[in-house]
Amino acid sequence: MRSNRLSMALAFVGLFCIAAAIAAWQAGSVLAYHEGVSLPSDYRYWYHVGSKSISPEAATALGLPAEIFGNTFDAVFANDTALNDLRNNTRPFRDGATFVAPFYKLENPVAGLDANGELLFTAVMMKDSEHFAETGGWGFEAFAPDGTRLSDLRPACISCHQSQAANDQVFSTLNERAVSAVPASDNGVFLPHDYRSLYWRGSKVIRPDAATAIGLPAEIFGNTFDSVYANQEALRALRGESRPFPVGSLFVAEFHQAAYPVDGLAAQGDLAFTAVMLKGAPGTGDDASTGDWKFEAFAPDGTPLTDLRGACISCHAGQSANDYVFSGG
Ligand code: HEC
Ligand code: HEC
Repeated sequence: MRSNRLSMALAFVGLFCIAAAIAAWQAGSVLAYHEGVSLPSDYRYWYHVGSKSISPEAATALGLPAEIFGNTFDAVFANDTALNDLRNNTRPFRDGATFVAPFYKLENPVAGLDANGELLFTAVMMKDSEHFAETGGWGFEAFAPDGTRLSDLRPACISCHQSQAANDQVFSTLNERAVSAVPASDNGVFLPHDYRSLYWRGSKVIRPDAATAIGLPAEIFGNTFDSVYANQEALRALRGESRPFPVGSLFVAEFHQAAYPVDGLAAQGDLAFTAVMLKGAPGTGDDASTGDWKFEAFAPDGTPLTDLRGACISCHAGQSANDYVFSGG
């Protein structure tokens, strides 16, 4: 679209200066990554492609160095260019496509529950077919939590990712429902079609024993892999620790079946259901015991699971001190 606008501008000689200015600005943004791969600051607002929990045994079984990848919990994010290319099956990926993969320490707050703990390092792949021509057009870099470049690791990145030549060196594939609008439920709760690009709060693997230990029904929550996303209103309140959450705050908790392709490795399998909480105007909540919140879960095909609403309310009512939300600041 921008290039359309650019060529229209070029048709008018009088607008040539503007076109030149835009071209210079575009060249400037290209130059930014000619200087090397940088760490984008906003990647947790990018599309969350998925997460994995990796034990040392699983790392070894997968041919990953266990001292680096063992006991990690990762997340993979794609920028708009990378996401569009994934969705449209465009290979090679276009210039500007970028993936960011933060690796966290694997935390087990309860036996059988895996969560992402402190950040260990962040791996980045950025496509610039000219500048990184020698490595298939991708620039690789990992960053320590303080931002230091771990450039010594680069040869290892390159040699391992070359195994994915058929997918232009990218391991991740999409695991999402058809991206279509899900109609709002009778209480007005809706599932934003781009909810995986809301701020990623974190993910968890819940095995049946852990579900029971934390008081969740094991037949619903046992062996699930969930991810929680927050919109801007909710995130601002979380960060500022201000409660109650403002009207319009929205949380999404997406639950996949946990899949164990290798012993000790948990990945996201089939989508199970997606739960949403929306903060309504005063007096419009589903039930007095959960303030102004409205709840709904949606099946993978978008059908509202309204029968579950009573359960949502009775469990979330216990979080009154945090305005009925489990996630903390
Ligand atoms: C021994 C193999 C191996 C090495 C070494 C390795 N990676 Fe990866 N990388 C993977 C696997 C496997 C995934 C998929 C992770 C997932 O699905 O959660 C991945 C995922 C990624 C992703 C997300 C996009 C994708 O391909 O799915 C980025 C970005 C990434 N790695 C960058 C790096 C960088 C930078 C380095 C070097 C510091 C590196 N990797 C080293 C195996 C490796
Ligand atoms: C038995 C207790 C229980 C029930 C029933 C329950 N939840 Fe939750 N919910 C939780 C817990 C625990 C978390 C935190 C999950 C995490 O951190 O990964 C949570 C998290 C959420 C979140 C993310 C925001 C937050 O509170 O952290 C949403 C959205 C949500 N639930 C919606 C629902 C909806 C909709 C239903 C009904 C379909 C429901 N929940 C039923 C316990 C419950």
